[in-house]
Amino acid sequence: MTIQKVMIIGAGQMGSGIAQVCAQAGLDVKLNDISEASYVKGVQTIAQNLSRNVVKGRITEDEKDIILQRLTKSLSIEDAADVDLVIEAAVENMTVKQSIFKQLDDITPQHTILASNTSSLPITEIAAVTKRPEQVIGMHFMNPVPVMKLVEIIRGLATSDEVYNDIEELTKKLEKVPVEVNDFPGFVANRVLMPMINEAIYTLYEGVASKEAIDQVMKLGMNHPMGPLTLADFIGLDTCLYIMETLYEGFGDSKYRPCPLLRKYVKAGWLGKKTGRGFYHYE
Ligand code: CAA
Ligand code: NAD
Repeated sequence: MTIQKVMIIGAGQMGSGIAQVCAQAGLDVKLNDISEASYVKGVQTIAQNLSRNVVKGRITEDEKDIILQRLTKSLSIEDAADVDLVIEAAVENMTVKQSIFKQLDDITPQHTILASNTSSLPITEIAAVTKRPEQVIGMHFMNPVPVMKLVEIIRGLATSDEVYNDIEELTKKLEKVPVEVNDFPGFVANRVLMPMINEAIYTLYEGVASKEAIDQVMKLGMNHPMGPLTLADFIGLDTCLYIMETLYEGFGDSKYRPCPLLRKYVKAGWLGKKTGRGFYHYE
């Protein structure tokens, strides 16, 4: 199937990045959010990223304008009535995602593929609320989307080979590298990454070292581009907590219990870079 018209649901840090790479690849993109302010912020981020590419000589001013023109504002899910693909990037919460997919199943044409950028939630369970589970798939982009090459593609129990192949082909068109993964809590990326971040938070909680020291150890000792606490702030502490809860519930193993300090920060609204405060302070 040729995928030309896409809707991205959620214009936050992931949705805006996904919208940017889709528009850069020549697709017509509807960028949807329930909040107009989030939509505006998302488009501003895309415009800033493209302007940086103009300054660096990677694209011309005209090309930037053409890419921006491929983006359409959407504040209603009903706008999905004529798209070939939806990529959902709203909050990491099963109830929210299932409600979105249920509505999309009614609104979109029969051929439309429904993808989720979920970090950890079972694709099979999201697909189960639709009448087209064979057309539901995970498309897990990494943050920041314009920079990171990986897309984990997650097959739900019923995902068809045809749909898998369409999404793999699209991923390559977006100049990303697809990696096939089966549907288990956290898939591969977050099953490995998030327990490390959670352990770094325990290390802080237990007073083993300061936040700066913990980050320095992992940056200088392991050559990680960011320390784990900086990375947690960058991902969003709410998202980190949701992922740990999915691992904890999904495997029923106490090794995945979220650190109480992570819970406390999320309850305080200290969600990291996006709210100006997490483990660190931001402008
Ligand atoms: N959006 C777009 N571009 C960005 C960006 C952003 N948010 N942040 C940085 N960049 C670009 C910069 O413009 C720069 O581009 P040029 O090469 O064109 O100049 C390039 O990335 C490098 O940036 P910097 O030189 O400013 O800084 P850096 O070398 O430290 O790189 C980084 C920044 C790429 C974010 C790097 O710190 C990094 O790789 N960090 C780790 C990121 C990571 O682990 N991501 C995965 C998170 S987990 C996840 O996504 C899954 C999940 O479900 C939670
Ligand atoms: P975010 O908080 O930056 O953005 C979420 C956006 O979704 C907000 O703008 C919000 O207004 C919007 N939204 C909420 N409910 C909605 C609905 N019903 N319809 C339309 N829009 C809605 O979050 P994010 O970091 O972009 O994460 C989004 C998704 O991507 C989550 O599932 C997350 O797990 C996943 N993800 C996050 C990262 C990361 O590093 N942050 C990486 C990969 C995947």
